[in-house]
Amino acid sequence: MTHADIETLRTELADRSPRTVLEAALKRFERIAVSFSGAEDVVLVDMASRLRPGIEVFTLDTGRLHAETYRFLEEVRERFPIRLEVLSPDAAELETMVREKGLFSFYRDGHQECCGIRKVGPLRRKLATLDAWITGQRRDQNPTRQAVPEVEADPAFASEDHPLVKFNPLAGWTSIQVWDYIAACDIPFNALHLKGYVSIGCEPCTRPIRPGQHEREGRWWWEDALKKECGLHIGDSSKD
Ligand code: ADX
Ligand code: SF4
Repeated sequence: MTHADIETLRTELADRSPRTVLEAALKRFERIAVSFSGAEDVVLVDMASRLRPGIEVFTLDTGRLHAETYRFLEEVRERFPIRLEVLSPDAAELETMVREKGLFSFYRDGHQECCGIRKVGPLRRKLATLDAWITGQRRDQNPTRQAVPEVEADPAFASEDHPLVKFNPLAGWTSIQVWDYIAACDIPFNALHLKGYVSIGCEPCTRPIRPGQHEREGRWWWEDALKKECGLHIGDSSKD
């Protein structure tokens, strides 16, 4: 797809339902996969696997996820007709960082380096094999996500040699719509959601929130709100 095609599609898909966006994505791409974090983005796994049984779903296993998340990933693997791929960080890079800086360096000097090795590296490797990917980003999740469109040329991982399209079918949905769907379709969910967790990432960098707090306050809480992107979705807000 050229940039002009993507722009046309973006206009066509603006504010359309998640299923319409997914249908458009799957109609156009064979080498496409869902990026699943093990949280409420399970709704995408449900919708996409109905439209294309056997669809590829991948998770970035940072090695630091909660026990509940690992259990949930297996539940999802068994429940849905998907091919679930669990991606690991590069062992040499990880060992070097941990040897030099320990296991909790992100509390001292920010999460970018650790996320770079544990998430962004494996994601880059995976995306090199795809023409498009599907994420669960929503505009209501974060001040940095207010401009997330339903479809875009990937702002971080596309290059001249490797065009890459990013679909965000849930962009316009609210948290309430996602949870309505989970209840209505009796979809399994991560047990952490019953313990006060809303947005879920790695164990050391995620905490439950209190009523009235924004969901993003449960992630990297020691850092500035506008820096709470780990590199997976950097660049999306630059289109404001
Ligand atoms: S993050 O960048 O802050 O970690 P967030 O948890 O809001 O992202 O999730 C938004 C979307 O990013 C998810 O719906 C999913 O598509 C993708 N994503 C985030 N973390 C992972 C992960 N560990 N593995 C695969 N995809 C992920
Ligand atoms: Fe590392 Fe925390 Fe990023 Fe997970 S969220 S990769 S533990 S910095």
